[in-house]
Amino acid sequence: MVARLTNEDEIGKMRNAGALAASVLEMIGEHVEVGVTTDKLNEVCHRFIVNELDCIPAPLNYSNGPGPAFPKSICTSVNHVVCHGIPSDRKTLKSGDCLNIDVTVIKDGFHGDTSKMFCVGKPSVLAQRLIRVTQECLYKGIEVVRAGARLGDIGHAIQQHAEANRFSVVREFCGHGIGRQFHDEPQVLHYGRANTGITLEEGMTFTIEPMINAGKRFVKILPDQWTVVTKDHKLSAQWEHTLLVTATGAEVLTRRSEESFA
Ligand code: MF3
Ligand code: CO
Ligand code: CO
Repeated sequence: MVARLTNEDEIGKMRNAGALAASVLEMIGEHVEVGVTTDKLNEVCHRFIVNELDCIPAPLNYSNGPGPAFPKSICTSVNHVVCHGIPSDRKTLKSGDCLNIDVTVIKDGFHGDTSKMFCVGKPSVLAQRLIRVTQECLYKGIEVVRAGARLGDIGHAIQQHAEANRFSVVREFCGHGIGRQFHDEPQVLHYGRANTGITLEEGMTFTIEPMINAGKRFVKILPDQWTVVTKDHKLSAQWEHTLLVTATGAEVLTRRSEESFA
């Protein structure tokens, strides 16, 4: 079943979960610096989520199939890691590194899921452009959301913008319905054709989370069965928001204070 909320109580809980997830990304920025390990970032986020927000970190022990459960509370995906990077005390950030931090919290039974890119020191010109274009892809996807639009309109807008900039769209992972469940229907592809797919309805809640590669779109999964990397080891970037479909547009449930949406 597609995630769809009909009563104000549930919508209020999704708004709250989204705002709390966003607050984790706002908190962690100042901790992203040269010499910090991704495990330290995990520890700081875990403590904040559990102790300050009184939430559950959804990734911790999450399993989605036969493989091992995810062992940490956030995903940290550095440079050529596309998504689902596992925080590690052996991964120390150095100047020029860029990483995605992906946070999902559960509050009162509802999920808020969001990620953003951070850089340490000065990123390369290519990294800066990839990160900017990927965020634009997310925003262009959000712009087409409204009741009556079709799911394929989102993927089309994202693919157009990525490929116009000579980047490629990862196809093996997608956005997802979200609510009481972490990963619900529908699958929100980041590529595709306009005027295809299900019609969006008021009250639907889902994520858009484009993964855009500097090189080719192909990926592989490391032996840990979680970490997804680009096959050509070129850079990848990702940004994610959780959205509520409204009659006239999208409410960005995981909006950060640095962002303004029309
Ligand atoms: N937060 C990721 C997403 O956007 C999912 C992470 S699953 C995990 O869907 F187990 F790796 F944490
Ligand atoms: Co997600
Ligand atoms: Co996420």
